[in-house]
Parts: sequence; C-alpha cells; structure tokens
Amino acid sequence: MIASEPARKRDGFTTSLGVMAATLGSAVGLGNIWKFPYLTGMNGGAAFIIIYLLCTLLVGLPVMITELIIGRTARADAVTSLQKLAPGTPWWLIGAAGVLSAFLILGFYTEVAGWVFAYIFKAARGMLSSTQPLVTSKVFGNMVSNPVECLVWQWIVLAFISVIIIAGVSKGIERMTKRLMPLLFALLLIVCVRSLTLPGAARGLTFLFKPDFSKVTGTTILTAMGLSFFKLSVGMGTMTTYGSYFREEQNIPATATKVMLADVLVSILAGLAIFPAVYAFGFEPDAGPKLLFITIPAVFTSMPFGQVFMVLFFILAAIAATGAMLSLLEVPVAFLNERLGWSRSISTILTAISLALVGSTAALSNSTLAEFKIMGKTMFDLFDFLSSNVLLPLGGLFLCLFIGWQFGFKNTVASATNHGALHNEAIVTLFFWIVRLVTPISVLIVLLNGLGIIA
Ligand code: PFF
Repeated sequence: MIASEPARKRDGFTTSLGVMAATLGSAVGLGNIWKFPYLTGMNGGAAFIIIYLLCTLLVGLPVMITELIIGRTARADAVTSLQKLAPGTPWWLIGAAGVLSAFLILGFYTEVAGWVFAYIFKAARGMLSSTQPLVTSKVFGNMVSNPVECLVWQWIVLAFISVIIIAGVSKGIERMTKRLMPLLFALLLIVCVRSLTLPGAARGLTFLFKPDFSKVTGTTILTAMGLSFFKLSVGMGTMTTYGSYFREEQNIPATATKVMLADVLVSILAGLAIFPAVYAFGFEPDAGPKLLFITIPAVFTSMPFGQVFMVLFFILAAIAATGAMLSLLEVPVAFLNERLGWSRSISTILTAISLALVGSTAALSNSTLAEFKIMGKTMFDLFDFLSSNVLLPLGGLFLCLFIGWQFGFKNTVASATNHGALHNEAIVTLFFWIVRLVTPISVLIVLLNGLGIIA
C-alpha cells in the first residue's frame, strides 16, 4: 500500500541553477577523478573512451531521463515512486534494489573519499613529496593497511555528509553543490593547464585520443557500460529521488543532456590533467585503482610548484566526491523519512551508523579483512563490482522496461514535454523508442556477455 501524502510541503530544489548544480554534483565525483582515469589507463586509452561514450549515449542518458521522469511524476522516494505509478505490481522492487545499491556503493565510496580527504593533509604536510612511486606507494600502503586510520577517515566523511543531508534538500544539498561545483571546474582547469604545458605532454594526448581496439573484450565493454551507469548515478533510484525534487517547469530531457555533457567534459578534463603529466615524467598509465594515490603524487612532485597543485587536486577530488555522496545518502534517507515517517535527522543518523558498519568491511579490506574474500574478491572489490557491473545495469534495464512497457507512451510524452509546454514531442518520441527497445536489449547483451553467460 502507498503511504498517504505527507501533510507538509515536500522540500525540493528551488531554482533551475540549483537543479543543475545538485544533479551535476551527483554525476561528477570520484567516478571522474578516480575511476575514469584508472579504467582508461588499464583498458588502453582512447578505444575504451569511445565505447564508454557510446554507452553513455545509448544507455546512461536514456536511463537518466527515465528516472527523472519517474521521480518528478510521482514526487516520492525511489521505492514509493514506483508503487505510486504502478500500484499492486512488483515494480517497486527496483527501488528496493536501489536502496541496497546505495549501501554497497557508499560502503566503498566513503572509504576512497576518506583516502582523498586524508591525502589533502598528507600532501600539505609534504608527506607525498617524492618523485619515486616506490615512496608514495609506501605512504599509501601504510595508510590502507592501518585499520584505525581507514575507519576514522571513513567516519569523518560519513559525519560530514550526514550534517549536510540533515540540513535538507534546498538548504543542504542545493546550497552546498551550488557553491562547490564552480570551484571544482576552476581547480580542474588550473591543474589541466599545468599538465598540458609540460614538455612531453603530447604522448598523453595520443593515449587519450588515438584508439587501439585490439585490447577490447566483452569484459571491457561491460566495464565501460558499468562506468556509464556509475558516472551518471543511474540504475539505482538516485536520479528518481532527485527527479522528485525537480521543479514542475524544469525541462527534463534538456537538463539530463546538459548534465551528461558537463560530466563527460569533467572526465575528459581529468584525463587531460592526469595523462599528459603521467607520460611527461615517464610513468605508466596502467597502475589501476592506485593510480590516483601512488602515481599522481609522484607526478605532481616532479613538476614545478607541484605540492601546491597536488593539494589543489585532492581538494577538487574531495569536492567532487562530496556532491556524489550526498545524492547516494539521500536515497535511503528519503525512503526512511517519507515512507516510514522518521525525521530527517533520525533517518540520516541511522543510515550513517549502518553504513559505518557495512562500510567498515570495505575499509578493512587492505588490513584486518584482507584475507576475507567472496568470489575471490575482497569486500571493497565485491561492493564495487556488484554495484557497477551487476546491480546498476539490472536496475537500469528494469527501469527502461518500466517506462517502455508499463508507464507507456502517453504518460511519458505528457511528463517529458511538460504537458506539451516544451514543444519537444519529436525528441521525446525518439527517447521513448530508445528506452523501450534499444537500451534494454543493449544492456542485456552487454551484461550477459560481460559476465560470461553468453559468448
Ligand atoms: N556518479 C558518481 C561518480 O561518478 O563518482 C557516483 C555515484 C553517485 C554513483 C550516485 C551512483 C549514484 F547513485
């Protein structure tokens, strides 16, 4: 049964700029600064980027529009939205799976964010000022193998985002992201210019822009698709929840497209900030998840005024991570708050405590729990793999089926055209058919192939 409408007015984003800042704040995150560069580095550069861009166009963007439509039409949390739009059916299970995904992602995300926060201080104190990856690798190794340090930083991050979430949607999320996003762009541009003007930067550009498809496999494509879900924060109800705070007159397809383009731009800028410098100083791009924490400090130390740029870089990564974590935390908080009627503070505090418990298994993956593995993966890797490569694609697949086959053409057009006010019927019709057929079929094939179920 659907809970009755809350008597009070729902909180929401107040201006068009606020909608953009919060939505972009969710999309831009460690996905751009940490995941995109290391996955590009490990999967051969330009070819991976091209596949990732295709996935973003055919899968990420359509699912984002889908979720925003569902959220704004139903004006409720991720689970209740689906119940409201399809009462008495099991579609709400997608929302429930989304709440689970939020936990898994936050479980490892808060840990990586903790490392980033810690690195701001380590960089400022000169602890990372070495041109030798062997030395920076020791600093990183000492940090991740220290259970207390890992847990404390994770809790600091959790407490920080909880305070903003408790302040509310407009006074917390919107206000914070509106201030932080321009700062993030400015810092990123500064670091980019520094990297691109280094002698020897050109090889980094070749790596980023000259494709070599010989290394591409089914797993590469699944990884690129998983990244496109993760990057745009889709497949798990985050955008449904944010859509429920959208203004009535907001143009959903246009907003989603702008967010997607800006998000891709940030990823490419992060690539431009990192790879030219990596090559200029003779480092290798394929260091994996540790690229940001071992190679990058050595790269920065190699350049003039490197320590200043290093501190700026980790501040911008921390800013990016914050906007994304706010949107992740909002999913369970909105659910508990609206569905069970708990206050926002209680919902946030209880979620943060449960996250501290779940997340600690990821935080201890390099120390106390290093030997504890499921399917050959530590908890950190398992949370990452299960969310990006399984739960988000499955969530996205079912959300598309929901819009395409249950919600239907008429409702979709009514919602995405703002009842005809936007005069964008042609583009919305195209979107509907992509979501009804192209996206679900593509996701299914890539998922089954990437997981080795079909050849
Ligand atoms: N989009 C974020 C990033 O790229 O870092 C991560 C993320 C946020 C994933 C919110 C999923 C989500 F619901």
